[in-house]
Amino acid sequence: MRGIILSGGAATRLRPCTKVTSKQLLPIYNRPMIYYPLNTLIKAGIKEILIIVAPERAGDYLNLLGSGKEFGVKFTYEIQDQPAGIAEAFIIGENFIDEDNVTLILGDNIFEDDLSEEIKNFRKGGKVFAKKVPDPERFGVVKFDENGKAQKIVEKPKEWLSDYAVTGLYVYDNKVVKIAKNLKPSGRGELEITDINSIYLEKKELEVAIVNGEWIDAGTFDSLLRAQNLAKKKLQNKLVI
Ligand code: DAU
Repeated sequence: MRGIILSGGAATRLRPCTKVTSKQLLPIYNRPMIYYPLNTLIKAGIKEILIIVAPERAGDYLNLLGSGKEFGVKFTYEIQDQPAGIAEAFIIGENFIDEDNVTLILGDNIFEDDLSEEIKNFRKGGKVFAKKVPDPERFGVVKFDENGKAQKIVEKPKEWLSDYAVTGLYVYDNKVVKIAKNLKPSGRGELEITDINSIYLEKKELEVAIVNGEWIDAGTFDSLLRAQNLAKKKLQNKLVI
């Protein structure tokens, strides 16, 4: 299993804090934000991790994280020239992924749960993690049928579909590279991770697990504050890095 952290984007919603640095380097209590998703991957035993960053911030990431030796893993870095969509991570990461399975985590996603076993037990197809939220319209949303089986996944649905958001942690087999390369940009001009999930779902190869603990997409000032409090109260003693 290889790991990718997608840590690019312009984070205009967090201006002026992100004018001179990357959102994923902002502090969450006593660590930079990216330490939390990194922790999720390292705890799951992933040793080879690709960090995808925006060109203007690459030096900051290298200075902060280095080779990975300090954490007992190996980091590889790639540049994403434009935020052309989350699914582009598998195209940028094609050589890195090689013939392995891959776990992608977004650099601003913070999980309270230890998802190591879920990642370690993965064999094939795709696996995503859903969480009940009060504001599903902000996310990719998954609708379940009466037996609790995933039926449909829609990116930021205009009409209410379900209260379950698809979180920013995705585990796929090697087929994901080919699927990503065949995607067409969506209406908002991005290669959508939701399209990849829908393709696995149509083939009945997508597992949707439920996240019990807190999950935060720290992309707004309010969620950033929630993440700080979660880190102070519950996470700081559980981190391996
Ligand atoms: O957080 C989970 C949600 O993440 C999912 O429920 C959605 O299905 C998924 O589309 C995504 O929604 P967001 O609205 O949060 O996506 P956003 O464009 O804000 O990007 C999420 C993170 O990924 C953000 O920290 C920046 C980074 N990113 C994003 C894009 C599109 C990149 O590094 N490159 C990109 O091209």
